Amino acid sequence: MTLPVSLATEVPYGVDVLAVPVASGPALVGDGHGVDLEQLQARAFEGKVGETATLAGEGGNTVVAVGVGGADDVDADVLRRATAALVRAVWKRRSVATTMLDALPAGGDRARATRAVAEAAGLAAYRFTRYKSDPEPCRLEGLTIVAHDADALAPDLDRARVVVEAVCLARDLVNEPAGSLSPTDLAERARTMAEGVGLGVEIVDEVQAAELGLGGLLGVARGSDEPCRLIKLTYDPPGATRSVALVGKGITFDSGGLSIKTAEGMMGMKTDMGGGAAVIGAMSALPVLAPSVKVVGFVPATENMPGGRATKPGDVLKTRNGTTVEVLNTDAEGRLVLADGLALAVEEEPDAIIDLATLTGACIVALGPKVAGLMGNDDELVDQVRTAAERAGEPAWPLPLPKEYRKQLDSEVADLKNIGGRSAGALTAGLFLQEFVGEVPWVHLDIAGPSRSDDDDGAVVKGGTGVGVRTLLELLAG
Ligand code: BES
Ligand code: MN
Ligand code: ZN
Repeated sequence: MTLPVSLATEVPYGVDVLAVPVASGPALVGDGHGVDLEQLQARAFEGKVGETATLAGEGGNTVVAVGVGGADDVDADVLRRATAALVRAVWKRRSVATTMLDALPAGGDRARATRAVAEAAGLAAYRFTRYKSDPEPCRLEGLTIVAHDADALAPDLDRARVVVEAVCLARDLVNEPAGSLSPTDLAERARTMAEGVGLGVEIVDEVQAAELGLGGLLGVARGSDEPCRLIKLTYDPPGATRSVALVGKGITFDSGGLSIKTAEGMMGMKTDMGGGAAVIGAMSALPVLAPSVKVVGFVPATENMPGGRATKPGDVLKTRNGTTVEVLNTDAEGRLVLADGLALAVEEEPDAIIDLATLTGACIVALGPKVAGLMGNDDELVDQVRTAAERAGEPAWPLPLPKEYRKQLDSEVADLKNIGGRSAGALTAGLFLQEFVGEVPWVHLDIAGPSRSDDDDGAVVKGGTGVGVRTLLELLAG
C-alpha cells in the first residue's frame, strides 16, 4: 500500500504534525505557523536541505521544521529531498500536513513542485515487508499538501500517485527474491498487470523463442532449470503519431553462469532484472497518463546459471537478427539477451528505442552507485533522455561510444565476441548493443549502480529503487 497524499487549501483540523519549510539561516519562508526561529537556532538548526527539527506547536500539535536550503534555490529537486526527509522524521505519527510549497520562490513551477512533493512522500514511505514477520509499523495514514491553489494542482497530485504506483511496482519486482521470481513468475506478474490496466501482452515461451531464433536469450537460459520467457507489452492509443520501443534486461538471477561470480559478487544479483522492472513499471502507468505515443516494451527474461547444459566459454550463439556471437565470458549475459530484445524492437520500426539494463560493474566504477550511464547513437535523443532523467530526479550522465573501441569486439570465429577487454567496460558493452539497433535512434541506460541502493537517500529507499520508471514517464508522458 502506498502512502495516501492529498491536497487542501488550509491545514486540516486535528492533524498530528504540521511540517513547515525553513530556509537556511534559519529563515522563515511564508507563514511560520508558530515556528520559533530562536528555538531552532538554539538547537543549531541551519535549514540545510533535509534537516528536520521537531518543535511543540501552537495548539498542542507538533510542528516539524524542514530545511530547504537557500531560499532562492528552492526547486522541485530540493522539495523532493526535503519531503523525503520529512516522511522519515514523522514515520511514527498518524497524520501530517505540510506547507512545503510555500518555499517555492514566486514564479516557480508549482505543478512540478507538487509532483515532486507528492512523489517523494509516496516513494520515501515505501517498504518491502512481504517477508517480515513483524514489520516496523508505519503509522502514517496520510500526508496533506497545503496550497492556496489546491484545485489547480489536483491533476499533478493525480499524476504523482500514478507515478508512485509504477515505481513501487518496479521496486516490488526488483526486491522479490529470485527463488520466488523466476522468469515465468516475472512474465505472469507482467501479464496480470497488463490485463489489469489494459495493455496488450504476449508471453513468448522457450519453444516459441526457438522458433523466433532468440539465440541470445536461449543461450543464456541453457544452464538453468527455469525456462526463459520473452515479455512483450503494448500500449497503442488511437491516433498515436510517434512510437517508442523499450527494452529491459530481465535476468532474474545472475550467477555469472560457468564464468561464475564470487559469493560476494552474486549477493545482489536477484536485482539483475531492474531494467525489465523499469519497463514493466513504466508501462503500467501509460493507460492512465494516456500519452499520444505508441509504446512497445520487450523484456527478455531468464536466469543465468551454471549447469550441465550451460553455454560454455567459446560457444557461438546466433541472435535474432542473424548476428553470431562468440561467448567468451558467460557473465556478460545481459548484452546477449538484449541483442535479441533490441532486434525485436527494431522490427517494430519505432521512432526511437530505449534500453535499460543493469549491464556492467564498470559503469559503477565510472559513475558510482547513484548515477546511470547514458549512451546512444543519436545526440538529440540522448539529450532528451538526459533532460527527462534530470527533471525526474534520476541522475544520468553521458558516456561516449568511441568507434575506436569497436574492434575490441571482433571475434576470431564469429561476427562479434561478447567481451571487449579490461578497460572501458561500460562503453564496449554499449558498442556491443549498438550492433543490434541498426539506424534506429537509440539510447542505452546502464543502471547497474542506481537500480539498487545501500541507503535511504531522498526519494530512494534501501533495496530496489525502481530507477528508470520516472525517467521513462517523464520522457513519454511529461
Ligand atoms: N549483472 C552484471 C552487472 C552488475 C554488476 C550489475 C554489479 C550490478 C552490480 C553483468 O551481467 C555482469 O556480470 N557484467 C560483467 C561483464 C564482464 C564479464 C564483461 C561485469 O560487469 O563484470
Ligand atoms: Mn553477468
Ligand atoms: Zn547480469
